[in-house]
Amino acid sequence: MKPRLVTFEGIEGCGKSAVSREALLALERAGVNAVLVREPGGTAVSERIRELLLDPERREIAPLTELMLYLSARSQLVSEVIRPALADGRTVLCDRYIDASVAYQGFARGLGERFVERLNRVAAEGAVPDRTFLLDVPVVEGLARGPLRRERDGVARRDRLEREDLAFHERVREGYLRLARRNRSRVVVVVASRPLEDVVSAVLGNLERLFSVSLI
Ligand SMILES: Nc1ncnc2c1ncn2[C@@H]1O[C@H](COP(=O)(O)OP(=O)(O)O)[C@@H](O)[C@H]1O
Ligand SMILES: [Mg+2]
Repeated sequence: MKPRLVTFEGIEGCGKSAVSREALLALERAGVNAVLVREPGGTAVSERIRELLLDPERREIAPLTELMLYLSARSQLVSEVIRPALADGRTVLCDRYIDASVAYQGFARGLGERFVERLNRVAAEGAVPDRTFLLDVPVVEGLARGPLRRERDGVARRDRLEREDLAFHERVREGYLRLARRNRSRVVVVVASRPLEDVVSAVLGNLERLFSVSLI
């Protein structure tokens, strides 16, 4: 079976972490050799960069610095984990990846979508997702799920990005929907304002066709 790179994207609280874990379990049950990583993170170096990026005390981080930090975390993840796993025949699921930089730094922060896409191509070294699930949810609904998530993950306070105002998160959502329209063959928009089981079913239904396996 050809290994695939599958990514999960969307605003805070849309369900990326919950859905990607379910997808991993379903693929493993079906005998697909898969790993799940998150961005920023997934390597020792990238997790250190994550701490810096999410630290609510680091309000001074400039938009371009922010972008470069995400790209640094990404290039380490690609060279240390993603490319070796794919070369080894393993499918990689990634909780956020290149599209997050386009939506957050390119569109919401105003650095320019094309500019970020160019730099993404450098950082990703050709590791372009085969399928991307954009879990789309209204901003207030996603943000309202934050306390549940922090409790699950044992996180005490809102991170630097969760602290951005509603207008910022609205721009992120719009940035994601814009890139979904530009990448229709790769990006599948999944309505995430419904029960988690329904979101998971929609994703697994699509993955069944991508992997030609039965997952439900
Ligand atoms: N469709 C859904 N309906 C209700 N709760 C959900 C749904 N999707 C996720 N959740 C819950 O909301 C919280 C945030 O989900 P999470 O997967 O951490 O979002 P993200 O990783 O996109 O920020 C978690 O507690 C999760 O279990
Ligand atoms: Mg998450």
